[in-house]
Amino acid sequence: MKKRILHIALLLATLTAAAAPPTALQCEQLINPQGIDTRHPRLSWRLSPEEGNNIRQTAWQILVASTPELLAKNKGDCWTSPKTASDQSRMIAYAGIPLKSGHNYYWKVKAWTNTGTSEWSGPAQWSMGLLDPSDWKAKWIGYDGGFPWDSLSKFSRLSARYFRKEFIQANKITRATLYIAGLGHYVVEINGRSIGNQVLAESPTDYTKNVKYNTFDVTAACRKGANAIGVTLGNGRFFTMRPKYKPQKIKEFGFPKLLLQLDIEDDKGRHQLITSNDSWRFTADGPIRTNNEYDGEEYDATKEFPGWTNSGFDDSRWGKPQYTAAPGGRLTAQMNEPIKIMETVNHISIKPLDASTWILDMGQNMAGWLQLRTKGQRGEKIVLRFAETLKSDGDLYTANLRDARVTDSYTLKGGGEEVWHPVFVFHGFRYIAITGYPGTPKINDFEGQVVYDDLPNTGQIETSDTLLNHIIRNARWGIIANYKGMPIDCPQRNERMPWLGDRATGSLGESYLFDNGNLYAKWLDDIEEAQKPSGSIPDVAPAYWNYYSDNMTWPGTYILVADMLYNQFGDLRPIQKHFTSMQRWLHYMSSKYEHDGILAKDKYGDWCVPPESPQLIHSRDSLRTTDGTLIATAYYYHLLTLMQKFAVLLHRPDTFGKHATVAKNAFNKQFLEAGHYSNNSVTANLLPLCFGITPQNERAAIIQQLVQKIAADDNHISTGVIGTQWLMRGLTEFDHADLAAQLATNKDYPSWGYMADHGATTIWELWNGNTADPAMNSQNHIMLLGDLLTWCFEDLAGIAPAEPGFKKIRLNPAFPKRLDSVKAAYECPYGMIISQWRRVGDSIIWDFTIPPNTSAILDGKTTVGSGTYHYSLKNDKTI
Ligand code: BGC
Repeated sequence: MKKRILHIALLLATLTAAAAPPTALQCEQLINPQGIDTRHPRLSWRLSPEEGNNIRQTAWQILVASTPELLAKNKGDCWTSPKTASDQSRMIAYAGIPLKSGHNYYWKVKAWTNTGTSEWSGPAQWSMGLLDPSDWKAKWIGYDGGFPWDSLSKFSRLSARYFRKEFIQANKITRATLYIAGLGHYVVEINGRSIGNQVLAESPTDYTKNVKYNTFDVTAACRKGANAIGVTLGNGRFFTMRPKYKPQKIKEFGFPKLLLQLDIEDDKGRHQLITSNDSWRFTADGPIRTNNEYDGEEYDATKEFPGWTNSGFDDSRWGKPQYTAAPGGRLTAQMNEPIKIMETVNHISIKPLDASTWILDMGQNMAGWLQLRTKGQRGEKIVLRFAETLKSDGDLYTANLRDARVTDSYTLKGGGEEVWHPVFVFHGFRYIAITGYPGTPKINDFEGQVVYDDLPNTGQIETSDTLLNHIIRNARWGIIANYKGMPIDCPQRNERMPWLGDRATGSLGESYLFDNGNLYAKWLDDIEEAQKPSGSIPDVAPAYWNYYSDNMTWPGTYILVADMLYNQFGDLRPIQKHFTSMQRWLHYMSSKYEHDGILAKDKYGDWCVPPESPQLIHSRDSLRTTDGTLIATAYYYHLLTLMQKFAVLLHRPDTFGKHATVAKNAFNKQFLEAGHYSNNSVTANLLPLCFGITPQNERAAIIQQLVQKIAADDNHISTGVIGTQWLMRGLTEFDHADLAAQLATNKDYPSWGYMADHGATTIWELWNGNTADPAMNSQNHIMLLGDLLTWCFEDLAGIAPAEPGFKKIRLNPAFPKRLDSVKAAYECPYGMIISQWRRVGDSIIWDFTIPPNTSAILDGKTTVGSGTYHYSLKNDKTI
């Protein structure tokens, strides 16, 4: 009897057991975001992994309150959702009372799982931005012209612009919120305190279409009594780096301008609004003498205005700003992560080049700037020039920077230690030539500050191959260097443009290292905003450079990235939002360029294949390159199939399937020859195989050709930007993981390992980046990575989504013979996935963990629930 009671008690205990409260609360995939402008923000959380195996959510409930006190009392006055039976723990759209501009919201969630009911989670918060244009009472201010010390020529020099305003706050402040759009970039201080730790804010856009604003809670910076606010504006992309140079190519927006609104609420609920208007004071005669993203920043500390962002500063010599025209774009909240100083790097050597110059080696090609620390006489000037490599005489090699001058300077004010870094530019560099440094520099006088978007890290991978690990590290450095509120191609020369083609597959591989969901969702908006009324989409978006060349591969990134966001993050919104524009683009392309299923319009071909001679940038050998019509038609087909998938997801009629079939048949008719495609290049054979164009009965022969073709190149890569996007995954899918692993670990030309072995600390633009002409030869481009990172995570570690957002995970590592072990961790939206395997004798020991509320399918067959597993595999693939 006693035993029975004990059993019943145990059973009851399990039935009512408390599950751990949900964690990692996110609103619109951000932690406690300020100033969002989505009226139905989506809320996400995770279940705690400590619960054991097979944890599934069975229901959830959300409370959203207008004050933290109400939330603490479990009163969701804005939204008390019903207890909802569902295993969905990501992106639940808010469905309470309408959200109001400028208000704070507090929320928490409770989950029911198959093991019990959780406590309420800890509280999280978000605030709304300004939802309606009429909420903006501020006016755009600036100054539409240059000053005597500025130059508006091709190599423009425009000094930073300084704006200040004093105000009295009569009562005790309960909340102060700052809304700011400072174009191109701003720095803002209140009462001498800098606001936020973002740099190069706000995110760049086509300002005639969309202007991002940032929101800050500045309650702690404001005070009762006299206050002052100071804003510095730099050029960014707004006042372009090369004005009046090639107006047909380079977009210009005008002179920097500011829109600012500070909303101060007192303890009686009264509001005081401080807005940008002509009551502000203005000067451009300050310490930042010029700032130009290509050419650098010059700072003269003798021209500082001490105390200018505090009240009581004498601004009688300052002028008034002008009212300026609005830039044209609608104001939207920045909902992608800000850029910050994310890492620091110490130099590995400093050597004299000549009597006046030191060469500093950071040991790493990086993007950001150098912070210097110095002591000297007033008026002494330190000049810093940046480059990626050195010449044989030890001086900087700058030929590949083209006409970017990449030079910062700092003029000392004297009288003590001075610490400085630029704020409105960044450079891509490993080496710095320093002249004019007072005395002998010491090790701590310099710090490399790495500047990129503050994206959470998602993954890590380490293999038994040290070269491959080195390549992955190089890839990571390349990626962070080229995240700048948009993905750019390179951080060093006079380009730095958001080229679409570079990210078609890159964005997917990058997602295994960084949570890049918000950044790429923002970029899709940039792309849509760049679409012409005709439907044409450019190769660069925002379209700072005017390249509407109508090809399939670069603009096709629009569709590929939307698919990536859905697969990796489970985010359907980009597909919903952009479906019509994507459809319009495909329709435009097909009606203009398609004939009987063939799309004969291409611009870049398989960009940057390894050329026949080490000096060449592009191959002239038709056997190495791939027919542009083949590439365009293959992509056309592939993009149609993605659109077909999107149409099904959105319950729209499928107008794509029949075009896809026509394209596929036409493709095979035109390009399929006896056992190979077209000129038999790797890319020509690979694309139809990967896209499912090749007829079933021809596949084996084409795969055979592909492998032979690679063998003929001594098992080396022969593809460019296009082929490399599909190569590694393709080979593995076709049961040639060993060959893929060989390409990944090759050390001689052409290979990623060749780059690393020749001193690369990032990825080069060209396979022959150490010998090719400098006219187009960046040492820090990510486009040739292709699908290497994707392959590392999806095939080596075997971690891939089987259902969108990793709700169901496909765990299926390949075990190439060249590798003895792989260890990977990837933080998917539901939590951490770990997959690690090693060879022991002729067995493989495989351990993996998947997070709560997910399941995994192994080897296409077995399904397992959340938790940690240990497998010993014989004969490679059998589980
Ligand atoms: C860029 C590439 C880009 C290509 C296309 C190059 O100058 O650096 O990233 O995709 O042009 O033309």
